[in-house]
Amino acid sequence: MNAWLWALLVAVLCSGCDDMSRQAKVQEQRPGALFANGLSSRQPPDGTVARGQLAREALVRQRPPMTEALLDRGEAGYQTFCTPCHGLSGRGDGLVVGRGFPAPPPLTEARLLDASDAQLMELIAQGKGLMYGYASRIPPAERWAIVAYVRVLQLSQHAPLDRLPESVRQAFDEGAP
Ligand code: HEC
Repeated sequence: MNAWLWALLVAVLCSGCDDMSRQAKVQEQRPGALFANGLSSRQPPDGTVARGQLAREALVRQRPPMTEALLDRGEAGYQTFCTPCHGLSGRGDGLVVGRGFPAPPPLTEARLLDASDAQLMELIAQGKGLMYGYASRIPPAERWAIVAYVRVLQLSQHAPLDRLPESVRQAFDEGAP
């Protein structure tokens, strides 16, 4: 048999060995053999605190000062994570809604204008109804930035007259459209 045929035979025989899928590993949704209770990782003992957990929780509680840089980060975060459903302006008209996904409420609903920053932080982390939670995907500092940008969107469509610049207010007073 010539060398090419040997090479072909070896290649055909090896294509049947799939070590990657046969290796010992933890399977999702199946009990593992590692611990008697079937879990694949240990639960933290009662009363213990994981390293870094307190620092992470402090970040969630502490609202960073409002700066332009924070708003820029918030805008980028909002556009990455939220626009597919909530739309660029927060009206609930994102791309996936155009394709049949149930529309979220407009971010300018009175209830959401009144919601506290802490409530919005919690909402982004935990999700609600069909909106999944982002706790594992958006770290607290970024979540705060997104909350700040949600406030920008709300204000841009719900600005009280006395917070508008003088020239714009005059235009309203004169009855301009
Ligand atoms: C996959 C689509 C989707 C994405 C992405 C998404 N949301 Fe939502 N969101 C929804 C839906 C649907 C609701 C309505 C949930 C309900 O009331 O059942 C909602 C509700 C909300 C509400 C109102 C909650 C209330 O109490 O009525 C806010 C505020 C909100 N989302 C903010 C965000 C922010 C900020 C992001 C980005 C970090 C985001 N959402 C990403 C779909 C989404």
